[in-house]
Amino acid sequence: MKKTILTGIRPTGRLHLGHYFGASKNWVALQYDYDSYFEIADVQALTDNFDNPEKVRTNVREIAIDLLAIGIDPEKSTIFIQSMIPEIAELTIYYSNLVTMARLYRNPTIKTEIAQKKALFGNDGESVTYGFVGYPVSQAADITAFKGDLVPVGEDQLPLIEQCREIVRKFNSIYGETLKEPESYLSETKRIKGLDGNDKMGKSLGNAIYLRDSEDEIKKKIMGAITDPNKIKKDDKADPSVCMVYYYHKLINSDNLDTICKECKEGQRGCVQCKKELIESMNKFLSPIKERAKYYEENPEVVDKILIEGSKRAREVAKETLKDVKKAIKIDYE
Ligand code: TRP
Repeated sequence: MKKTILTGIRPTGRLHLGHYFGASKNWVALQYDYDSYFEIADVQALTDNFDNPEKVRTNVREIAIDLLAIGIDPEKSTIFIQSMIPEIAELTIYYSNLVTMARLYRNPTIKTEIAQKKALFGNDGESVTYGFVGYPVSQAADITAFKGDLVPVGEDQLPLIEQCREIVRKFNSIYGETLKEPESYLSETKRIKGLDGNDKMGKSLGNAIYLRDSEDEIKKKIMGAITDPNKIKKDDKADPSVCMVYYYHKLINSDNLDTICKECKEGQRGCVQCKKELIESMNKFLSPIKERAKYYEENPEVVDKILIEGSKRAREVAKETLKDVKKAIKIDYE
């Protein structure tokens, strides 16, 4: 029997290289060895964006297109929409009794996110909602509904998986062995730096290259990327290890990496030329993804069908879990 992997993604924007190299490239490989569920977490996205439903709605399809374009195969994997599985919401209610408020506030991911909100909105956190603080509980329902063995995530998500494991243990100890305790699956995921040299590539940081950026956007972004600040003239010797252009050459495995590195160190390579070469490699790298995306952009009904069918399949599994859960809690009235 194949093991099951389950992971989720919030539909708040398109995928960029940070998502791709940090997580989703790996999902494509995993789908051949595991029963794979990829959840488009619209309910979770609403915890932050309840006042902007249009954004979430639009990005459900955009994320689906990105996932299909990078090679998630709907014949092998189940791509589904969280809100189409009401069983997840129901499980969330039962799990919410098993988590204290203190424990949620101590969750490092929640703690960081609340601190960011405070900094952003300049208040004392009074505006943090019940739904937001509780999203780890809902995420535990996402994972356990599909009896996930492994949850492939980035490092920032580890506290949420730990919280899920605690809920499972508590549930099983009170109501009897019912739920499967998942493990996180940290592949050699890396955090991808932004074009500006920031440690993280992120939408809100404005330093990201999106998988479906146009050639013009790519050109503009790469021409503005940070290089070694000590290199002023074309023949100055420079340090490629502090240069974002070299960083991206390496990331997408441009041709002639050794030559690029050597010429840069020896002052035989100008940054403009180096950026132009990167633009060319980046276009080459992204073009098959964009090509596949184009098909789905032009045929949105195909995407919607994949999502609806995936959600139907996923729902069957979640129904089973909910049945077991209700039986364990003795609320199985029929
Ligand atoms: N919280 C995850 C993120 O922000 C998304 C997510 C939702 C998820 N449900 C999940 C991840 C279940 C793993 C498992 O990236």
